[in-house]
Amino acid sequence: MRKLAVFASGSGSNFEAIVKACKKKLINGEVVFVLYDRKNAFVSERAKRLGIKSIYLNPNDFSSKDAYEDEIIYHLTINKIELVCLAGYMRIISMKLILAYLDRIINIHPSLLPAFKGKDAIADAYNYPVKITGVSVHHVVLEVDGGKIIAQKALIIKKDESLESLTKRIHRIEHQLYPLAINKILEEI
Ligand code: GRF
Repeated sequence: MRKLAVFASGSGSNFEAIVKACKKKLINGEVVFVLYDRKNAFVSERAKRLGIKSIYLNPNDFSSKDAYEDEIIYHLTINKIELVCLAGYMRIISMKLILAYLDRIINIHPSLLPAFKGKDAIADAYNYPVKITGVSVHHVVLEVDGGKIIAQKALIIKKDESLESLTKRIHRIEHQLYPLAINKILEEI
């Protein structure tokens, strides 16, 4: 069984989708732990419910970003993690962690990259307004949302669609696409 870690900062719906895909054997692996950096992140509730270990690391408890990432690398190493899946993790990964897990850190982003990088991608695409947007899974490199693309799925924004409806449809695609992309990457590494 391949060993995965998920990093999240918020709701954790993608984390839950990954755990469920592992249970259904859509992913040949298991989520060993979810790491989160915001005390009240709902992802910790989901972890409890799903019976997955959660690790809370508050960046403010560390003297530097380097020290914070050293602690992360420690948890990844002792748990023999093979792939790190970022899922709404609102922190920039620095060179230290990228080098320690070269080509083994991936992220999901709610737009068709390279369009609409950044944290408000769904609203940015909606307000532009474009007619087609989507979801991308990509490798994590120093440039935010700039790594090699692993998988993408497009969707057409409906006439008069609300931002809320588009957001829901994007999340539904994410929950399908991320597990498929994770499984594909696991076959390659
Ligand atoms: C997702 O839209 C993901 O693409 C983006 O952050 C959001 C996380 O949602 N990077 P959730 O916490 O998985 O529900």
